[in-house]
Amino acid sequence: MKFFADTADVAEIAELAATGLIDGVTTNPSLVAKTGRPFLDVIAEICRLVPGPVSAEVTATDHQGMLREAGHLLEVASNVCIKVPLTLDGLKACRALADRGAKVNVTLCFSPAQAILAAKAGAAFVSPFVGRLDDVGHEGMRLVADILEIYRNYPATFRTEVLVASIRHPGHVVEAARLGADVATMPPSVIRQLVRHPLTDKGLEGFLADWAKTGQRIG
Ligand code: E4P
Repeated sequence: MKFFADTADVAEIAELAATGLIDGVTTNPSLVAKTGRPFLDVIAEICRLVPGPVSAEVTATDHQGMLREAGHLLEVASNVCIKVPLTLDGLKACRALADRGAKVNVTLCFSPAQAILAAKAGAAFVSPFVGRLDDVGHEGMRLVADILEIYRNYPATFRTEVLVASIRHPGHVVEAARLGADVATMPPSVIRQLVRHPLTDKGLEGFLADWAKTGQRIG
């Protein structure tokens, strides 16, 4: 399972990339707005830090405008992945970009029907938003399970990877892995939460206290 960092904060990405656990990055217009920095500069810096796919989202809503913006974004670095919304124009742009060999992440997916369209449009990734579905009383992970089940019926033609997005806590990551999702994109806070367990901290404290009593050093 691949881990992507869901942030546009370059300092956070640098820190996470140094762990060797990050395979890519996803951004969106809201995350970029939070940085207060020019979009293309932010994407260029992230692409230098992480060799895997870096999703940069178009903001035009018509397919011609999306293709024009995608052209600029693709010039930034070879690992840019164009993010388009799950609209008819977004799907049309996805098909055109995929035909040119560009990687596309179709975002804001909230139904299995939409995910089928993303695969048919040649998306490299489809992003079901689990947290936002949970927020409105639906079961976000049910959507992930449905998409995976459907895609597995068409291994030769549906090559789209399921990128679980809008992750809010480690439980979402574990469930996504249990289901066999290809990618989980997580805010840095969730990535850090994954490592923590109070018994690990307590156990380490005890080991180090006992070791100190021996008066020994390694090396
Ligand atoms: C995914 O690519 C999106 O950037 C992200 O996961 C959205 O998450 P949110 O619902 O926490 O805004």
